[in-house]
Amino acid sequence: MKIGLGCDHGGYNLKLDIINFLQSKDIEYIDYGTNNANESVDYPVFGEKVANAVVNTEVDYGIVCCGTGIGISLAANKVPGIRCAVVSDVFSAKMSKAHNNANMLALGERVLGKGLALEIVETWINTEFEGDRHLRRVNMIDDIENKHNK
Ligand code: RB5
Repeated sequence: MKIGLGCDHGGYNLKLDIINFLQSKDIEYIDYGTNNANESVDYPVFGEKVANAVVNTEVDYGIVCCGTGIGISLAANKVPGIRCAVVSDVFSAKMSKAHNNANMLALGERVLGKGLALEIVETWINTEFEGDRHLRRVNMIDDIENKHNK
């Protein structure tokens, strides 16, 4: 499994924690920036970069961080084929994969403590999509996207 990572300045330190975590588990990743917490940058840039990497299959999944996780998830979700879930608890992390087949996870550095954030990441990575009736519903999301992108 290869994971694409991205963040703005508000999510940079959390991204570093996630990198350390992925390294400790021998999970491959590609870091799409940004590269420091001091320079104010625009979260849509990094949300789109990671989303593009997911839809182009450079990586299998994306994890993105900003202050709240909200802005960067909204940007990522504009890329067709992306289902980016903003998650702040372990149960939702599990469900976002099991039921919604989220291919990106968004986290807020200003919302979450490090311990919870990493538990969310671990749960999300280790949860599989259940398919079945959930596949029909995820396909319905794609139908909406296709209808509006005509
Ligand atoms: C940047 O200050 C902040 O707005 C951003 O990190 C994020 O929280 C936006 O949703």
